[in-house]
Amino acid sequence: MSVSRRGLFEVLSRAGTQSATARAPLPSAPPGVTEIRISSNENPLGPGKTVVDAMMTRFGEVGRYPFNNLTANEANLTAAIAAKQQVKPENVVLAVGSQELLRNAVRAFTSPYRHLVTAAPTFENCTKVASALKHPVVEAKVDSAFKLDLESMLATVRGAGLVFVNNPNNPTATVHGIKTITDFVERVHRVSPDTVIFIDEAYHDYVTDPNYQTAIPLAMAMPNVFVARTFSKAYGMAGMRIGYAIGQPDTIKPLERLRMPMTLSVFTVGAALVALADQKHIDDERARNTAVRDFTMKAFVDMGCKPTASQANFLFVDIGRPAQGFRDACAQKGVIIGRDFPPFENSHARISIGTMAEMTKAVDVFRDILRPLSPSNAGKGGN
Ligand SMILES: Cc1ncc(COP(=O)(O)O)c(C=O)c1O
Repeated sequence: MSVSRRGLFEVLSRAGTQSATARAPLPSAPPGVTEIRISSNENPLGPGKTVVDAMMTRFGEVGRYPFNNLTANEANLTAAIAAKQQVKPENVVLAVGSQELLRNAVRAFTSPYRHLVTAAPTFENCTKVASALKHPVVEAKVDSAFKLDLESMLATVRGAGLVFVNNPNNPTATVHGIKTITDFVERVHRVSPDTVIFIDEAYHDYVTDPNYQTAIPLAMAMPNVFVARTFSKAYGMAGMRIGYAIGQPDTIKPLERLRMPMTLSVFTVGAALVALADQKHIDDERARNTAVRDFTMKAFVDMGCKPTASQANFLFVDIGRPAQGFRDACAQKGVIIGRDFPPFENSHARISIGTMAEMTKAVDVFRDILRPLSPSNAGKGGN
């Protein structure tokens, strides 16, 4: 079994040396070179016009606190999210991006005696927060298909405070179907009934695999399970900073308690309300992303580099060399790609999906840089 048990000692030695949010700066393009920024899994087109228009109408409200406002602020949005997800307002917790949920889930549910179970690689914020708090972390390396290794995770859940399940998983872009997720959640409950399971569906709107479905109904049916969503990806609102959690009231109450009051600005709430009502924008974005994703995946395959089976708006590609050198070479040509993702930093790069025009140019850059790689070397990454 490929569980890498990160013992207390390793976690403690890392604690205090890194900030829970610190991230090495990405390179930028040289002066005069037009940048293509495909590094943070954003929607390259941003939100729709109706969303921007909605924000413009909110200027008159900025002098008041949200509870003194013309329009009720967070309460309206909570109700709109509940209606959209067919749950009740008490099943929803708002957040300043889903990162607030990642942080507060670790604060609420882990301790020096109750570890975090997570994957390697996955979105690393929970691990960073747990390490900063000196709470133990157990990581299970993804399987040979770059999917979350749920069997390995299950082997480590007894007594855990929190299990982080990112589906689709960032950075590997792979997804588990709802049957597999349901089976995993039920087994965790049997082995360790008090353990909370956090299912992060940040990339939900980009999935095209018919076996995938949201775990929101599961979170509604079972205690100690919640799902997080964000407006930062398909909705194109990463700069607005808004996300939410859904689960049974008793499960999500600790997340509500740890929130700062009134964190969402009138602009953010106004934008989110309109965005929620515009399902066409999301459907169009999914279709656009799928077409550009297919184009980019094929380009890498033609270069002899294997991408994982992406179900998101980014690719995880075996470039057969360290990501850092590739990233620096791309930046020199104006193409900015994602950070390192241990334990695959010597073989894989994460590339977000931009517009078709951006990816057509980016693929030319990738081809240029990867050209010296003979097909016999491709795919022989260090991990
Ligand atoms: C899996 C995952 N969860 C959460 C986040 C954080 O998103 P937000 O902008 O909602 O804080 C990201 C951002 O990239 C992510 O990839």
